[in-house]
Amino acid sequence: MLALLLLALAAAAVSWGVLQWQRASRDAATTAFLQRHWAHPIAAQGEPPQRFGATEASLAPQACGSCHVSQWADWQTSLHSRTVGPGLLWQLRTFDQANGNACLRCHAPLAEQRALTALERGWPNAPASAPPDYVPPDLHRQGLVCAACHVRQHQRHGPVPQEGRPQPHPDLPHGGYVAEPAFSDSRFCSTCHQFEPDGRRVNGKLLQDTYEEWRNSPAAAAGQTCQGCHMPQRRHLWRGIHDPETVAHALRREITVRRLDDRRIRVDVALTNAGAGHYLPTYVVPKIQVSVLLQGERPVLNRRLATHVIGRAVDTALANEAADTRLAPGASHPMAVETTAGPGRWQVVLRTEVAPAEHYERMFAEMDARHPEFDDTTRALLHQAWQAAVAARFRLPDTVIEVPAQVDEPVRVVAN
Ligand code: HEC
Ligand code: HEC
Ligand code: HEC
Ligand code: HEC
Ligand code: HEC
Repeated sequence: MLALLLLALAAAAVSWGVLQWQRASRDAATTAFLQRHWAHPIAAQGEPPQRFGATEASLAPQACGSCHVSQWADWQTSLHSRTVGPGLLWQLRTFDQANGNACLRCHAPLAEQRALTALERGWPNAPASAPPDYVPPDLHRQGLVCAACHVRQHQRHGPVPQEGRPQPHPDLPHGGYVAEPAFSDSRFCSTCHQFEPDGRRVNGKLLQDTYEEWRNSPAAAAGQTCQGCHMPQRRHLWRGIHDPETVAHALRREITVRRLDDRRIRVDVALTNAGAGHYLPTYVVPKIQVSVLLQGERPVLNRRLATHVIGRAVDTALANEAADTRLAPGASHPMAVETTAGPGRWQVVLRTEVAPAEHYERMFAEMDARHPEFDDTTRALLHQAWQAAVAARFRLPDTVIEVPAQVDEPVRVVAN
């Protein structure tokens, strides 16, 4: 009996060990793939296989989109298709090639994009000949293109196919593809959304720490990856701080209004990061302002009772941090105010205003003032970028609550 029990225990230990070993080797394979895949600078694709037709060989997102219709449609609505906008372009005009390429590593990482940018900028190491047929002449303006994430040496790499999708096979277009679990791993994104430990810090904290924030979050513990939230059903959406619905879902606002007596009321607000698998927001760039307003029957009685800004404020030189009021995953910030509100009808309004590019609004304004020597093209691009940063601001729908007439009958409303 005892021998049987020991045997069973030993078998369990062995199979547990095998599981651990399998997990460790899968993990090592993912690490090795990502090191190769995101080894910078990314090498040129080289000559496409002879059997490739022109559309199969092309690095243009439109070409991929002629077959992968839904990914192309989604990608075009995403910020990944706009990583080369006026905000990057005016700065590239003031940089030499080495500094410019450092930006392109995340904003337009293919060798073919670097080459076209060098041609356009007149940088020294520009290619001598015209780009090959499979490189469209505007590839460097198209941002984070499909091929940057999926194509190396003309070989397609993609996630492990979902049920019902074709397994990799050489007879498929573009010679099939290599299925890699790494595409569904959060580390796939960290190459651009996480600084190395020796990267730029302000007040001791990295400027970009999204992967590490996620790694320590309840979302990570529950197995929810970056892709799980930002690419639901593998859709190429990447919605974030620029999207009102995504922000409304991330920021839970719980408001309680109570009458204390016939002259005074009290408002309690709890702001919670309920939906972001990292700090809300993760970068220094965006700011979210939450205000509590009181409005009476006559507009003159409108009053701002309290304001709280969520975000990490650093100066434009990236030297000092003025405040860091970001919300860790699951964390809450309380606001409480008591004020006079006599008899009559009163409404408490909770207003949420989002400035997704607040840091850039300040930085672009300062650069405009500080650099009278910029040429007309550079200044026009800078102004365009500045206007776009301001235009990105939006307001979530107000939450309006009638102040109760009775003491001891608090009203509680949750916006999420
Ligand atoms: C002529 C049509 C065609 C063109 C052009 C094309 N593909 Fe494909 N691709 C396919 C087909 C068919 C499959 C088979 C699997 C599927 O449909 O998901 C496939 C598979 C893939 C996969 C693997 C999907 C998975 O489940 O992992 C990726 C990634 C991919 N293509 C990326 C690209 C990219 C990037 C481009 C452009 C640079 C491109 N393809 C151009 C037809 C095409
Ligand atoms: C490690 C990757 C990485 C590098 C390197 C990088 N960026 Fe970015 N950049 C990002 C990410 C990620 C965002 C999005 C930040 C956000 O949404 O808050 C961004 C946003 C921006 C924006 C705002 C969006 C826009 O298009 O207006 C500008 C401008 C910008 N970067 C310029 C630069 C410049 C200039 C350099 C080089 C000095 C550079 N970046 C280097 C990753 C990078
Ligand atoms: C920022 C990197 C990135 C870019 C840019 C990108 N993809 Fe993807 N793609 C991914 C990741 C990551 C996955 C897997 C997501 C997952 O596993 O949840 C994926 C999955 C896919 C799949 C498999 C879909 C499925 O349902 O199995 C196809 C096909 C594909 N991408 C094509 C494209 C095309 C076409 C473009 C350009 C229009 C593109 N991708 C742009 C990262 C990217
Ligand atoms: C549990 C869902 C969830 C997970 C997991 C998640 N995110 Fe997010 N992410 C959000 C939501 C919601 C927002 C919008 C609110 C905000 O900006 O924080 C967001 C915003 C962002 C932004 C916008 C910029 C900013 O300053 O907030 C970036 C970039 C981003 N996520 C990248 C990532 C990356 C990379 C990972 C994985 C390491 C990841 N996210 C994991 C939900 C998630
Ligand atoms: C090659 C670099 C690169 C990779 C890989 C990459 N991103 Fe991005 N991502 C960027 C840049 C650059 C931006 C900024 C776009 C802009 O504002 O111009 C961005 C923007 C975003 C945003 C939009 C945030 C907002 O401001 O609303 C989200 C969300 C995001 N990325 C998530 C992801 C996820 C999830 C992955 C992994 C599947 C990923 N990214 C992989 C470079 C990258």
